[in-house]
Amino acid sequence: MKYLLAIILWAIVPTAAWAADAGIATAHPLATTAAKETLAKGGNAFDAAITAAAALAVVELYGSGLGGGGFWLLHRAEDGFETMLDGRETAPAAATRDMYLDTTGEPIPNASLEGPLAAGIPGVPAALDYLASHYGKLPLRESLAPAIQLAREGFPVDKAMRRHLAFRQELLRKYPETSRILLPAGKLPDIGDTIRQPELAQTLELLAEKGRAGFYAGEFAEQMVAAVKAAGGIWSLDDLKNYRVKEREPIRGEYHGIKVTTAAPPSSGGIVLLEMLNMLSAYDLPKAAAAQRTHWQVETMRRAYRDRAEYLGDPDFVAIPTQRLLGADHAARLRASIQDDKATPSADLKPVAPGVSGRGMNTTHFSILDKDGNRVAATLSINYPFGSGFMPKGSGVLLNNEMDDFSIRPGTPNVYGLVGAEANAIEPGKRMLSSMTPTFLEDGKRIAILGTPGGSRIITMLLLGTQAFANGENASRIVNRRRFHHQYLPDSIQYEPEALDADTLFELESMGHSLSPQDDAWGNMQAVILDKQTGTVDAASDGRGIGQAATVAY
Ligand code: GLY
Repeated sequence: MKYLLAIILWAIVPTAAWAADAGIATAHPLATTAAKETLAKGGNAFDAAITAAAALAVVELYGSGLGGGGFWLLHRAEDGFETMLDGRETAPAAATRDMYLDTTGEPIPNASLEGPLAAGIPGVPAALDYLASHYGKLPLRESLAPAIQLAREGFPVDKAMRRHLAFRQELLRKYPETSRILLPAGKLPDIGDTIRQPELAQTLELLAEKGRAGFYAGEFAEQMVAAVKAAGGIWSLDDLKNYRVKEREPIRGEYHGIKVTTAAPPSSGGIVLLEMLNMLSAYDLPKAAAAQRTHWQVETMRRAYRDRAEYLGDPDFVAIPTQRLLGADHAARLRASIQDDKATPSADLKPVAPGVSGRGMNTTHFSILDKDGNRVAATLSINYPFGSGFMPKGSGVLLNNEMDDFSIRPGTPNVYGLVGAEANAIEPGKRMLSSMTPTFLEDGKRIAILGTPGGSRIITMLLLGTQAFANGENASRIVNRRRFHHQYLPDSIQYEPEALDADTLFELESMGHSLSPQDDAWGNMQAVILDKQTGTVDAASDGRGIGQAATVAY
């Protein structure tokens, strides 16, 4: 009855008939400030999203950038239209299924992770152009201006930048153009030192002036392809020319009266999130003891991630049984296999012919709402921190290593442990399976714009975030909630320090769960929440990162 009321309220309460507050949450204060400036100049949420993505490409270049890809979930207030811009990278035309294997069929160490051979054809520059021309109000010249300034004049190294540089310095040193810019005089910069990227400023200017042609054609593209080839990559000018942004119908579902609008394939995020929510909707989680609740959550994670491994890939290349996976019958069948007091070993589930898929330790997410109710949830990535490490000379653009998100060889889980199958094998022009899950949640009272980086754990973070939203928690509590995770294989519960108390851990172990405590926290969730009745906004940036949330009252 409570849920029925929520659905009725959700249907009749207007959401954008008045000017409400605006809200922005990004992973870096300079990106939040830049996006806020764009809103102040009269730009809408879509323009502000361009500004935020470009600013993050400069100041958080280890997570995303022009050399990468991503997904932008959009809600247009004037007609309620919703879409997902798919700016995911594609495999070059010369890519082959076994390109990362040696003659004996063994994976070549780091081949899918380092250097230009690891890089898919970038989607971000095309997506920024597409967003401006189809949804924005401002020319790219204006929405890109803050990023161009940050790249040219520089910005101070912060603790997150310093930590990431230290973590990947060995890779960065292999590529002279990259180390010249990021490790001046061969040294790690100190916190507070200025990083300037004049070449990136020029590339952003080309994009501002010529739109996608500034990046995917002409002299710039020729130089980039020549540099990639000279360093062992396989890009061609046609790969760049043929790159297309795609609009995808978002994945939609409902959980306890909350409307869930989320990422479509080639992200696995939306389908896996809704499979978990569909299974969980039959349990009375608030009334359950912590161990029982966690057990049910983990068992649904296990089953949904198994389906991810078997069925999901680029929908333009593989037939995904979306309706079946999201149907009530499938949820009921999977739920029937869950025992209330006993873990199901992953090995007892129907086996998947395993392949490989990268988790990615990095990526970025931002959430933006403008005063008219336009919304953007964007999750963007170059995959592992600093991507492939390779920067074509003169471009200032770090290329992704997103090719590692494909299954590079059936049967061998990679360093991150996610398994895949035939559906995610490498093919020319195909988009690699992702876990990025930009999401909108809406109930009778509130609308949330939510997402996070975090590789394979992104989807379970969104699960926990959705459940926190269902419990009425505010933005700060949602993004700062302690996290646990299960992904089918490896068959163990990973959990952040203090995520689960000693009694819960004891009971979970007694049920047969294997426990895998993690030293480090994970994720960097950004949330913007609109109160539909008052028009006020609550926004928060995950305390695990250095990001910033801002609200603007109108
Ligand atoms: N590269 C991380 C992801 O797309 O899931």
